[in-house]
Amino acid sequence: MSTGRNIPEEVIEAVLLHHDIVDTVSRHVHLTKQGKYLKGLCPFHSEKTPSFTVTPDRQIFHCYGCGAGGNAIKFRMEMEGLSFPEAVKLMAEEAHIPFTDLNGSAAAPHNPELDALLQANEWSAKLYHFLLKNTEHGKQAMDYLKGRGIGDRLIDRFGIGYAPARWDTLVQFLDKRSFDLSAMEKGGLLSAKNDGTGFVDRFRDRVMFPIYNRSGKVIAFAGRILGEGQPKYLNSPESRLFSKSRTLYNLHQSKNEIRKKRQVVIFEGFGDVISAWEAGVHNSVATMGTALTESHAAILKSTCDEAIVCYDGDRAGQSAAMKSIPILEGAGFKVRIALLAEGLDPDEYIRKYGGERFLSQVIEGAVSAVKFKLIYLKKNHILLEEAGKVAYIREAIEVIAPLPSPTEREIYLKELSADLQVSFDSLKQECNQFRHDMQKNRADGDNNANWWNTGRHKKRQSEAPVLLPAYHVAERRLLSFMLQDDEVASYVSEHLGDQFNIKEHAAIAAYLYAYYAQGKTPDVSRFVSSLQDEKLEKVVSSIAVMDTPLEWSVQELDDCIKEIRKVPLKSSIDRKKEEMIAAEKAGDFLTAAQIASEIIALERQ
Ligand code: UTP
Ligand code: MN
Repeated sequence: MSTGRNIPEEVIEAVLLHHDIVDTVSRHVHLTKQGKYLKGLCPFHSEKTPSFTVTPDRQIFHCYGCGAGGNAIKFRMEMEGLSFPEAVKLMAEEAHIPFTDLNGSAAAPHNPELDALLQANEWSAKLYHFLLKNTEHGKQAMDYLKGRGIGDRLIDRFGIGYAPARWDTLVQFLDKRSFDLSAMEKGGLLSAKNDGTGFVDRFRDRVMFPIYNRSGKVIAFAGRILGEGQPKYLNSPESRLFSKSRTLYNLHQSKNEIRKKRQVVIFEGFGDVISAWEAGVHNSVATMGTALTESHAAILKSTCDEAIVCYDGDRAGQSAAMKSIPILEGAGFKVRIALLAEGLDPDEYIRKYGGERFLSQVIEGAVSAVKFKLIYLKKNHILLEEAGKVAYIREAIEVIAPLPSPTEREIYLKELSADLQVSFDSLKQECNQFRHDMQKNRADGDNNANWWNTGRHKKRQSEAPVLLPAYHVAERRLLSFMLQDDEVASYVSEHLGDQFNIKEHAAIAAYLYAYYAQGKTPDVSRFVSSLQDEKLEKVVSSIAVMDTPLEWSVQELDDCIKEIRKVPLKSSIDRKKEEMIAAEKAGDFLTAAQIASEIIALERQ
């Protein structure tokens, strides 16, 4: 995904100047004034008491509940599921800021190599599409697609094409257009000949599915063999344009519907997306033959809150669905799983039973993650045998007991009781015992007390400064002064440099030094948009909303710096102490004595 680094800063600044943060947020959140802040209910997580704040004089928002934060551009990105360049472009248009020719040139000084590859991908997709639809070569592939129920309308919508059974269709095509063929090989369109004398087409005699990025640019292909054979799908290799773990098939066409419905349907295959589209599911994506990753989940989370996982009904599909649950819940999704009978995949189901039944039974009938886990676990046991029953109950209790809602626990326990003909009371007792043990483990200071937690609640990182160690508070305080005053930044740069103990703080300081070095004035909102890093943006916004007074004294800065410097000193003292003990144990008393005097010197500092 583009970082947006190539949008001229003038555009970003003009956009921020024209889009006041309070106006921007007010369109979605009811804000009430509280001193220098405005407060409201956070639109990015569900809450009953407002922990979402907007600070007009710094032009930023920050949520104490979920940690979301940033400037007006960031707010629009999160709210509307836009990438950085998309948001800037949209906001520029709204404010009638010329986006394309500032500085008298095209807005984005592109990377020519990537541009060439994008161009080549786009032309190749058009060529394949043309060959499929209009030539004798494409006839067989056309028949194959029709046989699968994929007609002209879907072929056009998904840009499907055909790569002929020849070695040089694309080689000739790209060569004539003066593309650098070795760059095309790196980008995955061509393969190098074994003897090093040139290039051949990578895709031959395959139905071609272009893979688009979020903004609708072709970044790769998947080529399906006609009929049986290996590999069934040949994909473009990973390249600077294409990363499987971050790409979702069809997102460019479904993102608006996903946003509208606040819901996404996730499939495993291209065929599933295409068939489901015809059935009326327009809010779906598919992974690219890889398991769902945290990046996928994060990309989707910016657009919606509910995920319906609709994987193949066979063993492998169900096990993949099971694995996707913690990833999606960890990203904050409400997860449901669609169940497919007879080991069918969604595409096969639709062809067998029709789109309407798919919608009403499979998609709408998708079950909760807990219910799915219970169904899934049950299949592993032979319930006619007592031992199997007991083992299943144990696993089921492990799923049910951690649920925070007593009503929910009761519902599942009742179902379980009816299903297995085991008394509800005994199940309830087991469940309570499990919860008791769970809480005990937690109270015992188990450092990973949340092992049973699905992850949904992990997100609330505690930001309460009182709980932070002194050096952490000092670092935040110092950064907060630095954000407001370039003079502080240059003082800190001289006296502390990059010696912040917390990695993110060191990074922010470095960016801030660079920011001021360009002669810019203190402006949190602008600084944030120069970062282009989600994590850092959040940290900066959380620091910027701190109530730090505008006045500062050198004494105060020095106190902070001293507190910060203590940490590495302390850890090097600790290390030396260990070395000393080791030396004593080894009988090397001379070395031990030498280290001891070093420790004393350090402690004096
Ligand atoms: P499936 O084997 O379930 O294929 O793989 P499918 O989607 O049902 O394909 P059709 O209906 O037979 O055409 C699921 C997904 O795994 C990836 C593809 O993304 C596919 O859609 N895959 C599968 C590959 O990348 N390579 C392969 O060889 C097979
Ligand atoms: Mn299939």
